[in-house]
Amino acid sequence: MNRMEGKVCVVTGGARGIGRAIVDRFAEEGARMVFALDVGDGAFKELEVGRTNVKGAVVNVTDTVQIQAFVEKVVSEFGAIDVLVNNAGITKDALIQKMSDDDWSAVIGVNLTGVFKVTRAVAPQMMAQGRGAIVSISSVVGLDGNIGQSNYAATKGGVVAMTKGWAKEFARKGAKVRANSVSPGYCRTPMIESVPEKVLEPIIAKTPLQRLAMPIDIANAVLFLCSDESEFITGQVLRVDGGLVL
Ligand SMILES: NC(=O)c1ccc[n+]([C@@H]2O[C@H](COP(=O)([O-])OP(=O)(O)OC[C@H]3O[C@@H](n4cnc5c(N)ncnc54)[C@H](O)[C@@H]3O)[C@@H](O)[C@H]2O)c1
Repeated sequence: MNRMEGKVCVVTGGARGIGRAIVDRFAEEGARMVFALDVGDGAFKELEVGRTNVKGAVVNVTDTVQIQAFVEKVVSEFGAIDVLVNNAGITKDALIQKMSDDDWSAVIGVNLTGVFKVTRAVAPQMMAQGRGAIVSISSVVGLDGNIGQSNYAATKGGVVAMTKGWAKEFARKGAKVRANSVSPGYCRTPMIESVPEKVLEPIIAKTPLQRLAMPIDIANAVLFLCSDESEFITGQVLRVDGGLVL
């Protein structure tokens, strides 16, 4: 299928994990170009090899100047940005009494302010085009809360709230610019490599579908919400968690 045919796509944190799976699905579905934004360029060669519609770009989502320069370059070269996936995210977990100001600020900076900054740069272009799809990755933790994740939960809840506001804001003046969010449950990526299996086992046990998410599960949901198949869906949060109730 060619569900992304002709589309210029931007995926933050696209070098590995869930972001990488999204980049791969968009490319397979015939995107005109998929830009994988990330902080290091180590994985870009591997991402680009053998395909002409994937390109890595070093853009830190906390850096307003880098983001603006990237958006201007893409628009001057391609004339449009059709899809934005706000995927880049970090964790710095601790019980609240042990959470430092630095750990709080770092997570807010990437997961919340970063999503705001990239969307601020891209959304006006989409509104000028009159079309576009934005999907921001939140988390079940942003909906249900979790022990030791005050900073992370605050950012992911914030992403959900911003998404709902953007669905209203970006559709003004007849623009068909949609904003949705995907909330994964625990997903097998480098982000959770340090979580011991003994912590993950009870989560799997509480999951009706009896496993953790794989990156492809999340990527397929994002693909749907970024494709024209979902053109009447906006302001929604789609849980992809096997039915987990935390
Ligand atoms: N893995 C899970 O269990 C899980 C569950 C729910 C939600 N999520 C969310 O899914 C998203 C992807 O997570 P993942 O598990 O693939 O993580 P990951 O750590 O495997 O990958 C995240 C990517 O984001 C990049 N990144 C980090 N900071 C960045 C910055 N400032 N600018 C640009 N890129 C940056 C990293 O370099 C990395 O390539 C995150 O938003 C995460 O919070 C993950």
